[in-house]
Amino acid sequence: MNRFTLPRDLYYGKGSLEVLKTIKGKRASIVIGGSSIKRFGYLQILEDYLKEAGIETQLIEGVECDPSVETVMKGAKMMQEFQPDWIISIGGGSPIDAAKAMWVFYEHPEADFKEIAKPFNIPELRNKAKFIAIPTTSGTATEVTAFSVITDYSEGIKYPLADFEITPDIAILCPEIAYHMPKQLTAFTGIDALTHATEAYVASNASDFSDPLALKSIKMIFENLMDSYNGKEEARDKMHTAQCLAGMAFSNALLGICHSMAHKSGAVFHVPHGCANAIYLPYVIEYNRTSVEAKYAEIARFIGLKGNTDKELVDEYILQIQKLNEKLEIPKTLKEFGVEEKDFTENLERISANAVLDACTGCNPKETTKEDFMKLYSSAFYGEVKF
Ligand SMILES: NC(=O)c1ccc[n+]([C@@H]2O[C@H](COP(=O)([O-])OP(=O)(O)OC[C@H]3O[C@@H](n4cnc5c(N)ncnc54)[C@H](O)[C@@H]3O)[C@@H](O)[C@H]2O)c1
Ligand SMILES: [Fe+2]
Repeated sequence: MNRFTLPRDLYYGKGSLEVLKTIKGKRASIVIGGSSIKRFGYLQILEDYLKEAGIETQLIEGVECDPSVETVMKGAKMMQEFQPDWIISIGGGSPIDAAKAMWVFYEHPEADFKEIAKPFNIPELRNKAKFIAIPTTSGTATEVTAFSVITDYSEGIKYPLADFEITPDIAILCPEIAYHMPKQLTAFTGIDALTHATEAYVASNASDFSDPLALKSIKMIFENLMDSYNGKEEARDKMHTAQCLAGMAFSNALLGICHSMAHKSGAVFHVPHGCANAIYLPYVIEYNRTSVEAKYAEIARFIGLKGNTDKELVDEYILQIQKLNEKLEIPKTLKEFGVEEKDFTENLERISANAVLDACTGCNPKETTKEDFMKLYSSAFYGEVKF
């Protein structure tokens, strides 16, 4: 038996935040990250709309990028004191992911982090609260996914929590909030979305339900990411949709080893998630193509690339990703990003062993051992294929 799960409601388009005026409930915990959401006035708008709906609010602020287990526990405790019937998170992937994990520990204070980090092992939610996600970046699609990425800094490991229990109830895609994204964030999050769609399309769990979403997303990203990067509002609107389509695909088809590599190296080398994916993706396609060349070729054909054979089409797809990365001013290698060779060598074996255990590795179309990960990471560090 297979399952395909999405939020019950998705509100989208300019002004869609207004739906908050109609929410029924008593208390809402609002979870945010840094100050940008206040500075641009969106927190005030949110609070005003909820007030109009007769909902009392609690603010949980200051969620850091790549949120920690400690932040999650602190937020859950605040929720236990306030007893919300809605959890509303507005921000990038970091605060929304943190809010999802807070939700778990709010409803199940006895839960153990290591236990819920096992795939599909989150206890039943919605006995106390439902969840609304409002993304301010165009990349992670956490507003529609069954994932939350939380970092255990004591181990230096990012854990992707995965369970349809944490798929939000309502996603609000209000594109104008993402107009404020600086260029680099637009680039990193945009390539994160491209990686989601590409990995979902070839994942072992891909289906006839997820494939059209992934293909459409990839096409829209190639058509709009550069203009979005250069600040064109229409293109930003399209990217906000495209990343969400990718999320709908990967939440159900799951991901692959590009994400395993990004999760396990991100916390150690401090590479932002999207940037890590951008560096790894060309090598991951090169590695996986011996198993799924025909599927990558389908992507290339769908977005209008030219080639007489599957091999030529996949070569072209890799080349186009590299060109896009370059135009987005993303470093080509970990070395160019600034990772020191000594630091890389010292950590290589450990991050490779951790990557094997990442929840995304099981859905990759090709089996990947620790030695394979070492070769993949080395390729991405030195900028040449080493497998
Ligand atoms: N749950 C999932 O399905 C999923 C998928 C992919 C990645 N992730 C995780 O999400 C996190 C990354 O999320 P992200 O890339 O959205 O970034 P983020 O949430 O970490 O935010 C990065 C920075 O951008 C700022 N920011 C956010 N929105 C802004 C806006 N509109 N204008 C100006 N500044 C803004 C934030 O304040 C922060 O400083 C990582 O931890 C990653 O592992 C989760
Ligand atoms: Fe991602």
